[in-house]
Amino acid sequence: MPAISRRASSLGTENAFVVLAEVNALARTGKDIISFCIGQPDFPAPVNVQEAAIRAIRGGKHGYTPSAGIDELRAAAAKYLGAMRGGLPIRPEDVVVGAGAKPFIAYAILSSTDHGAGDEVIYPNPGFPIYESQIVACGAKPVPIHLHEARDFSFDPAELERRITPKTKLLILNYPHNPTGGLLSRKELEQIAAILAKHPQVWVYADEIYSRLAYSGEFFSIAQVPGMYERTIISDGASKTWAMTGWRIGFTSNPLLAPVLTRWITNTDSCASQISQWAALEAIEGPQDAAAMMKASFLERRDLIVGLLNKVPGVSCRLPGGAFYAWPNVTEACRMIGAPDSEEFRKRLLNEAGVALLADIHFGSRVPGEGQHVRFSYAASKEMIEKGVARMAEFIRTNTRKAA
Ligand SMILES: Cc1ncc(COP(=O)(O)O)c(C=O)c1O
Repeated sequence: MPAISRRASSLGTENAFVVLAEVNALARTGKDIISFCIGQPDFPAPVNVQEAAIRAIRGGKHGYTPSAGIDELRAAAAKYLGAMRGGLPIRPEDVVVGAGAKPFIAYAILSSTDHGAGDEVIYPNPGFPIYESQIVACGAKPVPIHLHEARDFSFDPAELERRITPKTKLLILNYPHNPTGGLLSRKELEQIAAILAKHPQVWVYADEIYSRLAYSGEFFSIAQVPGMYERTIISDGASKTWAMTGWRIGFTSNPLLAPVLTRWITNTDSCASQISQWAALEAIEGPQDAAAMMKASFLERRDLIVGLLNKVPGVSCRLPGGAFYAWPNVTEACRMIGAPDSEEFRKRLLNEAGVALLADIHFGSRVPGEGQHVRFSYAASKEMIEKGVARMAEFIRTNTRKAA
């Protein structure tokens, strides 16, 4: 038999999809499950966006586009990305449109590191699992930097300094953050930039896909810190802001790397869906009331779920600053019910109480000394949030009695 490459065999995955299959299999057996697994808005795309897509289809927009995207969308995205980031001078030619923001993670790693050369990429842990998976698949060395609950899930810049070596080629940042909902403050980003000033060989991939879901103050990008603009790949997109995950539109910008990222797209997807590109243009340029309504709704639900979680025995939850994730600490709850870790807790909660969550190990190896965590995506109805958290509380109470 022909062999499967080591690279493909070791390729990681996004466990949300694996748990989702588990949940669906259970649901097919008739089990009533409340799921907090999937990281996408629970709204349809705005009606004006849907209509723009229909117009594109009817208007014959069926062919390939340039690999970097249609000129209209590149221009609109340049203006939008710049305006959202304190007026950065982003030009249309700096912007590359892709089939979601996700592919740019691999393109950024592939464009900044050489396979097997010992090049290092620093990334947040816990973090979006595709970072580590792609770093390894691209033949670079993964260097996790730990996020700390006591810092509301940011990392200590001094820790970053200790991890940078002459081999470090790329630093991946993500704010607001998946899975913790944490942010990096302007002060922290300035501290990071001051460290990077001493290491000019390091690119930054600023995963800002949740930029419109930051709940306090104005969003601030590391690209806005003096000296950082040219070395930062800004990554944003339509998925989370306009509830367009399935439409697959992401946009990145960097004045030096745009042609390189474009070449990767020519070598892979050719271009993002033309229909989705016209829809994304409408999303950016059209009325923003749907995006504002969704953000307000997530904020309301954040406050609801955090309030409820903090009343559950053995659970404590920090107030996440953005995105639509809560990352409660369940160390004590695990102890109370006799579960050795958060993964066992998650499995039992799913099978015994019908509540589906993701565990911390789905987002990287557990950070020593930080305890056990699970992730709730609170892009679920208020009723489901109330019912799901009540089930979790009851599950912990019942099993605490059993364990005693
Ligand atoms: C941190 C992070 N980056 C990137 C993505 C990918 O987004 P897109 O749908 O634009 O590919 C996600 C989606 O869950 C995410 O959470």
